[in-house]
Amino acid sequence: MNKVVQAFVGFGLFCIGATQVMANAPSGTPRVTQELVAPPFLPKHDQAAKGGPKVVAVRLVVEEKLMKADANASYWALTFNGSVPAPMIVAHEGDWVELTLVNPKTNTMAHNLDFHAATGALGGAELDKVAPGEEVVLTWKAIKPGVFVYHCAPGGTMIPFHTVSGMNGAIMILPRKGLSDAKGKPWRYDRAYYIGEQDLYLPKGKDGKFKKYSQPLEGMADMLETSKGLVPSHVVFNGTAGALTGDNALKAKVGEKVLFIHSQANRDSRPHLIGGHADLVWQGGSFSDTPDTGYETWFVPGGSAVAAGYQFVQPGLYVYLSHNLIEAVLLGAAAHMMVDGKWDNNMMEQTKKPGPISK
Ligand code: CU
Repeated sequence: MNKVVQAFVGFGLFCIGATQVMANAPSGTPRVTQELVAPPFLPKHDQAAKGGPKVVAVRLVVEEKLMKADANASYWALTFNGSVPAPMIVAHEGDWVELTLVNPKTNTMAHNLDFHAATGALGGAELDKVAPGEEVVLTWKAIKPGVFVYHCAPGGTMIPFHTVSGMNGAIMILPRKGLSDAKGKPWRYDRAYYIGEQDLYLPKGKDGKFKKYSQPLEGMADMLETSKGLVPSHVVFNGTAGALTGDNALKAKVGEKVLFIHSQANRDSRPHLIGGHADLVWQGGSFSDTPDTGYETWFVPGGSAVAAGYQFVQPGLYVYLSHNLIEAVLLGAAAHMMVDGKWDNNMMEQTKKPGPISK
């Protein structure tokens, strides 16, 4: 179906006209519904595709909700399906992604979704914009394998406001044969975690306390003004400082291969696993390229997701953080990882206990 789309973005910054061919899958293409789950988990999926291309149908419902940034600050999170970040979507190269975006009438503003993984004007953002009380369906063909950000981008100042209010997530487009290591051999993960990093710019009042607002638009001007300094008040994983610690720490066992997918929709980040490494790093999130090997810290350019793989060889507590340690320790960008297994003294041992200095 051909459709002429006039896309108007922002305050008259630019106006484009484009002919769009809707990505309709051929009739008879199998359609599967993917049940999305809250991060850091991924939906049930096959690593190597079974059979031919499919239509992968997902449903995102916009929820504007109050969330805690930490014990002393709350913010109006603009969310897809109620989580910051939004759920991970998983499909294979050659599949079609069919998004149903629902904006309940209880919300206060229009929302949409720009898929960095999609090909076509504005990543679909003018075709999937919905006002409160509406729903829309956008279908696009996944032709680029990798991990990618998606985020709300309703135009003008609403773009940074929505994106830094939590309205972003990630999608993984796996190669049909699954992932390969640096030598081209199949690399299968035992677990995969999605860590969505969010920078927040929460305004403070004259009393030095974080301001509170009765609804999201009330705080918009304040928040945008604060954000112009580019100094975040919080940098958090999973929407709240400490969200992935304690009972919610990431888990693994010695010998398991873990895929970490880290997204940052707005700002650069530098993930590091204290006590471990990245055996494989798919730079820029691209699965078209051979992964790099043996990183201590890897880089996530703002506006992207990156995947890293690691096989755990020693048990214990690991910290997965952004290795800007000010952001990790003072602003919130740290998660815990508990790894079960048998300690290997050959790998590490306290060969002398702390005691008096001998000379
Ligand atoms: Cu939005």
